[in-house]
Amino acid sequence: MPTPIDPRGKDNPSTYFVHNQHDEAEMIRLLLQDQFITAGMGSVLAGLERPEAFQHVLDVACGPGGWVLETAALYPTMQITGIDISWRMIEYARAQAQARRLARQVDFQVMDAMHPLQFSDNTFDLVNMRFASSFLHLKEWPVILNELLRVARPGGTVRVTESGSDQTGGPTSNSPTYERMLSMLLCAGEKAGYGDHPQRWGVAHRLDELLTEAGCQQVQMRPYRLEFVAGTAAGESIYQDAMYMFQNTRPLIDTWGCGSTDYQELYQQMLVEMQQPGFHVFWNLSSAWGIKAHD
Ligand SMILES: C[S@@+](CC[C@H](N)C(=O)[O-])C[C@H]1O[C@@H](n2cnc3c(N)ncnc32)[C@H](O)[C@@H]1O
Repeated sequence: MPTPIDPRGKDNPSTYFVHNQHDEAEMIRLLLQDQFITAGMGSVLAGLERPEAFQHVLDVACGPGGWVLETAALYPTMQITGIDISWRMIEYARAQAQARRLARQVDFQVMDAMHPLQFSDNTFDLVNMRFASSFLHLKEWPVILNELLRVARPGGTVRVTESGSDQTGGPTSNSPTYERMLSMLLCAGEKAGYGDHPQRWGVAHRLDELLTEAGCQQVQMRPYRLEFVAGTAAGESIYQDAMYMFQNTRPLIDTWGCGSTDYQELYQQMLVEMQQPGFHVFWNLSSAWGIKAHD
């Protein structure tokens, strides 16, 4: 029985880096981002051995459900649950499940991942979570990983994917203005507690360490390097991503005093630079996964 959508039409309060989750612009950005991230990594379950063996799968902070739906379409025997704090994302994901005739295979629920998850111990063969640094402060990582392990079954897999690598932060480009905009966002991220370094957001560089500390065994970590070049489909994707990202995160940037008075001019300049021949972005990602031990 799916949880009812919040009839008050309000999102739950959250620590998400986009303050106005009512704004459909963030949902549009997440739909675009899901497609190019999954494509860039090669597949929804890139790196995992025998993915067809997973029967019960949980995706934490699933957004509008792109990863869940794509995984369900590729693996018709899987039962996949997606949870997100935003009822708007869940409402959209449920509608997509109906439209794509995947509703019997998937279940989307409104749930706050910062509280104990409403699932029994030892439930899922795979627990997946991508881009949780968008709402988890550094100190909360060990708590949530313990919770992901609790709901994974013994022998099950916990997999986490984040922007950045052990060497560098997430995206880098040859546009000075894109870099400047990014540095304002990173400044806000550090001050808000999502990261601990002005050039790095989140925990991608130590995902393997965190999984091991949480009790995962056989931990593996894999880096990905995605390339986006102006004039290609990928270049258009990153252009759209930046167009939404630097509007949607402006309240965060301003809250932490990391913006500048000419923010809007810089934003327009960035969009121009991103369309010039030769413009490129490299985006480093890391995925780490491990196994929950049998008692
Ligand atoms: C950057 S998006 C990633 C979406 C999806 N995992 C993906 O990779 O395409 C992060 C998502 O986390 C959700 N979120 C924020 N705070 C949350 C919380 N406390 N519990 C569950 N979801 C949360 C947001 O609503 C948003 O959909």
